[in-house]
Amino acid sequence: MSSKEELKKTAGIHAAKYVKNGMKVGLGTGSTVKYTILELGRRIKEENLEIMCVPTSIATEKLSIENGIQLHELSSLNGLDLVIDGADEFDKDLTLIKGGGGALVREKIIAQASKQMIVVADDSKKVESLGRFPLPVEVIQFSWKETRRQISQITGLPESKIEKRNQNNNSFITDNGNFILDLHLETIENPQKLESDLNKLAGVLDCGLFCNIANIVVLAGKNGLEIISN
Ligand code: 5RP
Repeated sequence: MSSKEELKKTAGIHAAKYVKNGMKVGLGTGSTVKYTILELGRRIKEENLEIMCVPTSIATEKLSIENGIQLHELSSLNGLDLVIDGADEFDKDLTLIKGGGGALVREKIIAQASKQMIVVADDSKKVESLGRFPLPVEVIQFSWKETRRQISQITGLPESKIEKRNQNNNSFITDNGNFILDLHLETIENPQKLESDLNKLAGVLDCGLFCNIANIVVLAGKNGLEIISN
């Protein structure tokens, strides 16, 4: 296992400690939270942990079922106690860029349904200023080129830096049947304003900026674990 993978595992397993018997838990998407899901599966099997979970993607749904985690419809649980999820970048205010795996919309819906959001990350995700990681925006297929033109207008970013995401030489399609546009901004001065401006466009479902949502980051680095809270 590479040292980066070890860090993801350390953060992922540690975050599972926040999950207590009887909780309603959102399960994030990605290669870090995968370790949280495996650890919860182990505790269910070995320690009789009883929890009710909601997955943030089809990939997480599959992984959870494989690990014996019982899943529920979000609407049947009347809110969640916490969600544990990864991030592509986070800053000192715990503002996040998410959506590297394309699950940003369900991830934000579930984070907003949760009393607490715990982020699991290795130390490469901590940044001074957000935006080096391309910002994912989920857009309706029907109008994606027009939406790209409008995003270019409101951000000043040339269309050449607004890239439709591909996978295996085809357009990447989200679990919701939409496209992703990745915005190569390099730096984001005002994440709240950018999120609100993007989300005003009818062709945009949501963007990967998570402002004032995360409460805790469980960060694994070469000097050990750091718990950052706001
Ligand atoms: C998926 C996400 C992921 O949480 C994010 O991409 C981080 O993933 P990883 O832990 O694999 O680096 O937002 O949409």
